[in-house]
Amino acid sequence: MRKIYLVGYMGSGKSAIGRRLSFYLKLPYYDMDHEIVRREKMTIPEIFETHGEDYFRQIETDFLRTFRDEYCIISTGGGVAVNPENRKIMRETGLVLFLDATFPDIWKRIHRDKNRPIVQRSTKEELEQLYHERRKAYKQAAHITIKTENRTLRQIVEYAG
Ligand code: S3P
Repeated sequence: MRKIYLVGYMGSGKSAIGRRLSFYLKLPYYDMDHEIVRREKMTIPEIFETHGEDYFRQIETDFLRTFRDEYCIISTGGGVAVNPENRKIMRETGLVLFLDATFPDIWKRIHRDKNRPIVQRSTKEELEQLYHERRKAYKQAAHITIKTENRTLRQIVEYAG
């Protein structure tokens, strides 16, 4: 096993779990969104506004194609596993963990978020529909699915590790 990728919908806990998992396994941690923000010198909403979503999706794939650190934990953005090429890269270069949270839990965490363009432009119903569509992609990407409901961060990390 080389890399561990965390996939799942916005607000499923990828970053929080990724950070703790990195501590637990003593591996470096990367948050894909932060890496993209650093490379582009723009926030995610600015990238969407200035260059459009297709451009953002392209940089996500470029990141996966070019990222060289071998033994590490990477939390991906919620849209990454939708692209079959991204799923293929992740499955071939590491272990993919799907953090499967329920929509009500996710909604509580994301509905006030100003930093997620998909949340900003969508209704609750649209976000719920997207959640169901994307779950199929997360399952296709994943080697392991972890249901997060009623589990503490510690339990999830111990299970994943
Ligand atoms: C997105 C999820 C975000 C970020 C961008 C698009 C998506 O990441 O990549 O706003 O399409 O679901 P998080 O899953 O970390 O919120």
